[in-house]
This record gives sequence, C-alpha cells and structure tokens, in this order.
Amino acid sequence: MKPLHIRPEVQAIRERLVSIRRDFHEHPEVSWQEVRTQERILERLRELGLSDVRPIASTGATALIEGGKEGGKRGPCVLWRADMDALPVPEKSSLSFASRNEGVMHACGHDAHMAIALGIAEVLAARRESLRGSVRMVFQPAEEAAGGAQACIADGVLESPHVSTALGLHISADIPIGAINVAPGPFFAAPTAFRITIEGRGGHAAAPHQSIDAVVVAAHVVTALQTVVSRSVAPSESAVLTVGKVAGGFRGNVIAESATMTGTIRSYTDAVRTAMLQRTEEIVAGVCAAFQATYAFEQSTSCPPLVNDPGVTEFVRGEAAAFFGPQSIVAVPTMGAEDMAVFLQERPGCYFWLGARNEAKGIAGRHHDPAFVIDEDALAVGVEFGLRLIEGRLAVR
Ligand code: NI
Repeated sequence: MKPLHIRPEVQAIRERLVSIRRDFHEHPEVSWQEVRTQERILERLRELGLSDVRPIASTGATALIEGGKEGGKRGPCVLWRADMDALPVPEKSSLSFASRNEGVMHACGHDAHMAIALGIAEVLAARRESLRGSVRMVFQPAEEAAGGAQACIADGVLESPHVSTALGLHISADIPIGAINVAPGPFFAAPTAFRITIEGRGGHAAAPHQSIDAVVVAAHVVTALQTVVSRSVAPSESAVLTVGKVAGGFRGNVIAESATMTGTIRSYTDAVRTAMLQRTEEIVAGVCAAFQATYAFEQSTSCPPLVNDPGVTEFVRGEAAAFFGPQSIVAVPTMGAEDMAVFLQERPGCYFWLGARNEAKGIAGRHHDPAFVIDEDALAVGVEFGLRLIEGRLAVR
C-alpha cells in the first residue's frame, strides 16, 4: 500500500473522528428512527457555525458551507451525502463501544459515513473563506428502508444553491484500507422485491387426487424461475433472481392449499428489469395453469440502479490514482442496492467504496453481519479523500 498523504488538519481530528463514530456505533437507530443520531448531527453542524442547518426528511439533517471567495455563493455547489441508519442486527462483539440498543447495530458502516462527513464539514468550515462555491452536506435517514433519499430531495437539498455534482462513499469491509472501488456507469443494481402467492386446494395427505398441492406447484415455480436469468437475459447483461423465502402448508399429513414465495430481482437497466418481471410472471402463470392452481404476483422497486456519471467518475479515478496510487483502484460493480442512486438520477456524480478491511490487524468482517468491523484508520482516509474531491470540483487548489 502506498503511504497516504493526510494533511495536518485531518491528522489533528483523527481522535475526534473515532470518538464520533464510536458514539454513533454505541447508539444505533434503525431507518426512520434516527432521532438521537439526528440531534447529535444537528448539534455538531451548529457548533461548526454552518449555514442552513436544519432537519430534513423527518430524521435527517442538512447544512451548507458557503465559500467566501468571489462567486462563492453563486459558484458551483457540491453535495456530499452520508447515510445514517443502522440495521436490525444483534451485535456480536466485545468492543468497548458495542451497540447499547439491543437487536440494533451499525452493521454496514453508516456510523463511519456520518463521522467522515462531519470531519469533512469541520475542515471545510475552518477554511470556508478560501472556497469558491459551496458544499451541501446531506445526512440521509433510511437508506436500508425505502424513501430516505427521495425525502431529502423533497426537502430541497438539491436547490438553493443548485447542486452541480453529488458525491458520497460507502466504507467497505471487502477491500483493504488504502484501496478504492469505483467505476463509471451502473455500479449498484435496482432492487425489485416480489411476492408470489399460489392457491391450490387443501386436503388429506393420503388423498392427493382430490387436492391441488400448492407445495408441489411452488417447487416447480422455484425451479422454473432459475431459467429467467440463464435463458431469458442476454449473457452480456448482469441480473439476479433469488427466491429467498418459501412458506406453505400446515403439517406433514395435510396437503397445502397455499404457498408464498418472496424474492428479489436485481438488474442494472429498466429494460432488463421489465423483461425479467414479465418472464417471471409468465412462468408463474404457466406453471400454475399446468397444475390447476391460481396465483397472485406482486412486485415493487424501491430505488433505481446507481449509475455513476462517466465524467465525474473519471475525475474521481484521477484523484484516486494520485492519492491511493493507480494499483489501488478496483472497478467491480455490485448487485447490491444503494439509494444514493436517487441523487445520481437527479445530478451527475459518483459514489464509490472506500477500503476499511485490514487483515494484518485481524479486521475482516462482512456487511450486515453481527461481527461487522472496520479499520477506524479509514475515517481519516475518507475525510482526506473527500476533501480532495470537493476541492477538486470547486477548483480550490
Ligand atoms: Ni450500507
């Protein structure tokens, strides 16, 4: 790993970054319940003397850092977004700052995102006179649920001033500290949740000829759905269809009258999603018709695919090559979902993964896992790199 040059102003707040992150980690709150988290953030933004400090999106927060240089207020505006919510995951760790809220954990690193964003705000606040343009800080609730990003936008974060570029990062337990994962174009998938309910006819297990066995129909449906991606999506496209849950029946000697299946469809384009949904329903309808069952099919898409703007991503890759070194840049899109996508639908921008794994220190967790863990040295790295991006967009250097 290339030694990273972190400026003295960021070195100086290392300990504060860690303590802010640990405070959030100790007090995790799930989507739409980020009340304490919101209070802490608003308090800190006010302490930093930022303008337009206000709650947004019910449990979110925003602030504006206005540059003092000529054209400062009317110059370009860069949005930096951090998400705030924790997960309904019970923490399994012996950390001194482990979650105090039973069954809730920052198991995805959003605590780190908030600490990094507050660090960026602190450094920029101290030198706002030198900024040409402004920076809109957005603390977004409910990334893990649905609607958090939309609610922030509805509360005006993209206007007054008009945001020209949207940026943000996700800490990664998959890539090592000192590495970054970023690519132009589709980078996270659009998630579509579906539920299939099959109605047959119940009966005695010993008299199957008088029944329509919903469990047998469901089994055929699950098997046939495996062909949606393998036979109906072009091999050059990326797509996933997973049936994650199947439920049906009462007991071993009763034929099930109904069965339900829930799952997810992931894709990078609307065209692929539409085609997959159509094919899924056709298969369900066809299998049910063959076995004389009926069905209901419901689906909903909570956010679009996350698409990184090619121009902004080129800029981010250039900054990353200078800071991390070209050999530390990977470009691997994921089929996970991320509602930063909603901001990037409205404004050109870039979202990337920042490495926080450190096997030498025994820090090797998995996202959404009760044993999720990050190398806190990534906090200062995130602040430094975020500052470089913002300064680069505002042409400060
Ligand atoms: Ni996350």
